[in-house]
Formats: sequence, C-alpha cells, structure tokens
Amino acid sequence: MKKLILFIGKFFIIFFSIIIIFFTFKLVLPVNRIDLEYPNKGRWESHQRIDFISAEECGLCHQEIYNQWKTSAMANATTSSMLEFKFHKLSLSMRGFPEEDVEWCYQCHAPLALTSPKDLNLIDPISRSGVTCMICHTTVHAIPDSNAGNFYLNPKLKMNGPFDDVISHFHESNQHQLFSEDNSDLCASCHFSVYPRNNMPIDWTWKEWNESGSDKSCKQCHMPEYNGKSASRDWVPERKLKKHTFLGGGRNNSEFIKTSATLNTQVNFDKNVLEISITNNCGHNLPTGNGSAPSIELRISNEINQSIIYKELFRNSYLGHFGFEVLDPTIALKKGIDKSIPAYQTINREFNLDNYKNIDKLKVELIFHYWMPFEKEYQIQSGLKTMLNYSLLPEVNILTIGKTLRSKNTWEVFRALKNIKPKPIYLIDSQLISINQ
Ligand code: HEC
Ligand code: HEC
Ligand code: HEC
Ligand code: HEC
Ligand code: HEC
Repeated sequence: MKKLILFIGKFFIIFFSIIIIFFTFKLVLPVNRIDLEYPNKGRWESHQRIDFISAEECGLCHQEIYNQWKTSAMANATTSSMLEFKFHKLSLSMRGFPEEDVEWCYQCHAPLALTSPKDLNLIDPISRSGVTCMICHTTVHAIPDSNAGNFYLNPKLKMNGPFDDVISHFHESNQHQLFSEDNSDLCASCHFSVYPRNNMPIDWTWKEWNESGSDKSCKQCHMPEYNGKSASRDWVPERKLKKHTFLGGGRNNSEFIKTSATLNTQVNFDKNVLEISITNNCGHNLPTGNGSAPSIELRISNEINQSIIYKELFRNSYLGHFGFEVLDPTIALKKGIDKSIPAYQTINREFNLDNYKNIDKLKVELIFHYWMPFEKEYQIQSGLKTMLNYSLLPEVNILTIGKTLRSKNTWEVFRALKNIKPKPIYLIDSQLISINQ
C-alpha cells in the first residue's frame, strides 16, 4: 500500500514537473511574429477624412432616412463593438502582434478611421460613425469575396443611388447598378470575410445567400419598400423608397425576427409521436453572421411547471487545441459544428409521446439568441478553454503576457466588463400542445 502511494506521489511530481518545464520553456522562447497581411491593407489612406461629410449633415435634407439609419446596427457598428475592439486589441497584444492589426476589423466597422490621418483610437467623431451614408453612397465598385472591405470609394460629393432623374443642388448624383434592387454586391463586400491569419470564416452571410440561389436580394428583405419623399425639398417627387433600418438580430425588431422561421407542431397519435418542423425563411442560414455568437434554440417544456424537457441549439462553433471550443474565432484551428439551418430548408424532429405520459400540455418554443444563450458554467468553461488556447499559441511568451497585463487595454476591458448589458433574446414562435387524445 505504502509503495503504491509512493509510486502515485512520484508519478504526480514527475508529471507536474514536465508541465512546468514545458510552460517555462514555452514562455521564454523567442516568439515568431508575423505582421498581418491582407490585400486591402493601407488602401484607405489614399483618402482624406476631411472629404467625408457626417450623416448628421446628410440628415439636414434626408431627415427621414437619417432617422431610420441612426437606429440600425450599421450606424452603431463602431460604438456597439467598442468593447470587443478592445478585447481584440488585448488578444492581439497577448499574442505579441501589433495592436494596429485591429485595422483589419475597422475596414468594415469603422472604415473612416483608416482614412488619412489614421485614427485607430477612434478620437474623431466621424471615425466612430460606423457604416455611414457616404461609405455606401460613394462606393463605385464592390467585389463580393472573402477579402474584408473589398469596396472602392470616390468621395467627391457625387452620390450614387437608384434614381436617374435627381435634382440636388448640394451634391451631384449618379444612378449606379450597385443600388439597383436586385444587386447584393455592396452588402457582400462586408458580409462575408475570412480572417487572414487562420483562414477562418468570420461573417459568412453572403456566401450562404449566394449558394442558396435565393431569388431575393439582401435589400428586398432588409430594406423594405415604402412611398415617400427622399429629401425635404419642394421639387422632390414622391417615390418608391427603401427603408434604411437594416433590420437584423442585433436591434430591437422582434417583428422582423418572427419572420425568420416557421415552427410547425403536430401530434401524430397513429405513430405515437410529436412532430416538429422548423423552416428557415431567410435568404441565408439561420442563424447567420457573427462568428459563433448567434443561435436558435428549440425548447420543449412542461407548460404547468415550466421545467425544460428538451433543448437543442442550432449554431456554429470553432475549435482550438484539444478540440476545445474557443470563443474567439481568430485563434481557432478549425471550424467545429455547423448546425445552422440552410436557407429555405426545413428540419424535422420526432419525439415519442411515451416520454411525456404524465404531462398534460407541452410548450414548444423557438428562440433567437443574439449572443451566446448559455448558462454561466458554460461561459466560464469556454472562457477558460479559450484562455488556455491563447497560451498555447506559438507567438505567446512570458514577455508578451507581461506586456499585455501592463497595457492600458487590459484595465479598460476589465472596467468595461462590469457594464456589459445582456444581449437581446427574441421569441420567434411559441405553441401549446395537448398530448392527451
Ligand atoms: C449600407 C449601405 C447604405 C448606407 C449606410 C446608407 N444607404 Fe442610402 N441606400 C442604400 C441602398 C442600397 C439604396 C438603394 C436601395 C434600392 O433602391 O434598392 C439606398 C437609397 C438611398 C436613397 C434613395 C432613396 C431611397 O430610399 O431609395 C437616398 C436618398 C439615400 N439612400 C440616402 C442615404 C443617407 C442620407 C444615408 C445616411 C443617413 C444613407 N443613405 C445610408 C445603401 C445605404
Ligand atoms: C441640401 C440638401 C441635401 C443634402 C445636405 C444632401 N442631399 Fe442628397 N439629395 C438631395 C436632394 C434634393 C435629392 C433628390 C431626391 C429625389 O429626387 O428623390 C438628393 C438625392 C440623393 C441621393 C439619390 C441619388 C440617386 O441618383 O439616386 C442620394 C444617394 C443622396 N442624396 C445621398 C446623400 C448623402 C449621402 C448626403 C450626405 C453626404 C446627402 N445626400 C446630402 C439633397 C441633399
Ligand atoms: C462597409 C461595410 C458594410 C457594408 C457595405 C454593409 N454592411 Fe451591413 N453591417 C456591417 C457591420 C460592421 C455590421 C455590424 C454592426 C455591429 O453590430 O457592430 C452590419 C450589420 C448589418 C445588419 C444588422 C445585423 C444585426 O445583427 O442587427 C444588417 C441586416 C445588415 N448589416 C445588412 C446589410 C445590407 C442589406 C447591406 C447592403 C445594402 C449591408 N449591410 C452593407 C458592415 C457593412
Ligand atoms: C428572404 C429574406 C432575406 C434575404 C434575401 C436576406 N436576409 Fe438577412 N435576414 C433575414 C431575416 C428574417 C433575418 C433575421 C434572423 C436573424 O437575425 O438571423 C436576417 C438576418 C440577417 C443578419 C443578422 C444576423 C444576426 O446576427 O442576427 C444579417 C447580418 C443579414 N441578415 C444580412 C443579409 C445579407 C448581407 C443578405 C444578402 C446577401 C441577406 N441578409 C439576405 C432575411 C433575409
Ligand atoms: C468583412 C467585414 C468585417 C470585418 C473585417 C470584421 N467584422 Fe465584425 N461584424 C461584421 C458584420 C457584418 C457583423 C454583423 C453580423 C451579424 O449581426 O450577424 C459584425 C459583428 C461584429 C460584432 C457584434 C456587434 C454587436 O453589435 O454585438 C463584433 C463585436 C465584431 N463584429 C467585432 C469585430 C472584430 C473584433 C473584428 C476584427 C477581428 C471584426 N469584427 C472584423 C463585419 C466585419
């Protein structure tokens, strides 16, 4: 017995020594830093920020459009993600990479911050204005592919738009095919991207849409039509306009989210099963977009005591070392599960009624979580696994970690974490089912 204890003791001492030696060497070895390279790097600096006019000024004449845009996620593309940019800067600096690599993210979230003079700390209010009017309306060329920010501007007070008979004394106008109803290229240039360092897809909406052969363009769902005047000037005629609200999961628009899927439930007494089907009505997968964050939950519960009987998540995930799920796709090694529902597809589930013998009524819910619906334990676990994966990156050593801990960003992130508000949760549909014949 004594021998066995001694043996186990020795085993553990040797085991832990090996781990300590591994990490010590790993942490002091020199790191291999490579600057992030991507096709559009530095391209924005050929524009002067002073050539861009703020959305507020456009709003002097285009008041209604301005009000719509202001509520959209894209108007808040910089401010709403500010904390995550700090996170990203922090993770970059932990990896020994320059914090300036955050430029890659700004190509879609804060393109004006990249114009001259460069403003990576987002000091100038117009740098913080997200995807503002002039970004879209001075685009002359947009390429749908996985390179971030593959759109080209000509900010010379000539606004590209859908009409060919416009009179405006403030700016020239130009009818441009990017603004025709069935064209999705402009949207594509930001809604599909691959992170250059590990080739992981970050936003893949456009790709899914393209592969689905959808006969509706992005605008036909996300910019609903209405009649009105596009500018507050006497000579402007009433026209068919497009709402600039860019509805999506990130804003308060529960009505729109409800259109995203159809839930069908049916009790089949002959087969003794409850049949459930979910049909994705979107022109892309459900959920889509932002990394592993959004998910759709199918939940069945006992109507009386609300206890959850069944729970299934439709979502994507990313894996790091040891097959651990990591929350930050930019450090992932491969994609994990892809359990989103493809565009216009239906998935079916069957549940044996014998499992619910003592239950009178079942509640079936389809829930849209904009951001990680998981229980606290899950978040802590995956947080720890993500941290471990950071420490295993080839570029990380003790010097870079030390430098990171002293960086201003670390403390800013810790301070900001306290103020995080829970992200929205929407009910797509809820149905009550009697399972007694
Ligand atoms: C994400 C890109 C994007 C942003 C940002 C954007 N627009 Fe547009 N805008 C469009 C598209 C696309 C159309 C044409 C839609 C169509 O007709 O199919 C359009 C149409 C218009 C029109 C023509 C009238 C209409 O409603 O169709 C005006 C005027 C206009 N936008 C002004 C603005 C102003 C002012 C802002 C900022 C407050 C702005 N836009 C922000 C993409 C954008
Ligand atoms: C002094 C008033 C004024 C200001 C400021 C102004 N516009 Fe306009 N704009 C107009 C008028 C008037 C029209 C014509 C509307 C129509 O005929 O429906 C127009 C039309 C447009 C169109 C449609 C072009 C087309 O060919 O389809 C776009 C796009 C546009 N403006 C964008 C902008 C943007 C972006 C800004 C800010 C950089 C801006 N406008 C600032 C008055 C203004
Ligand atoms: C310059 C880059 C850019 C272009 C061009 C662009 N988007 Fe976006 N879009 C973004 C970014 C960045 C966000 C995320 C904003 C955030 O929440 O931080 C976004 C968010 C959205 C959302 C909201 C998602 C949500 O969660 O609520 C919708 C819908 C959307 N875009 C549709 C479109 C459509 C339709 C077009 C084409 C007319 C378009 N976008 C063009 C960058 C762009
Ligand atoms: C047939 C209608 C339809 C078409 C076509 C469509 N969408 Fe959507 N989209 C929706 C609906 C409904 C939602 C809400 C569900 C959701 O957020 O996942 C949505 C959600 C989104 C979101 C938000 C995802 C999130 O995190 O909540 C983005 C971004 C988006 N769409 C962009 C696009 C782009 C870009 C295109 C074109 C390439 C496009 N959509 C085409 C209907 C459509
Ligand atoms: C190719 C364009 C593009 C690039 C590059 C990009 N994003 Fe995004 N980002 C988007 C779009 C589009 C969305 C909205 C997707 C959705 O809502 O489904 C988004 C959403 C987000 C959100 C969620 C915002 C919210 O309101 O909750 C965060 C945070 C974010 N991005 C951070 C980053 C960071 C950090 C980087 C750099 C590593 C980055 N993004 C690079 C296009 C981009």
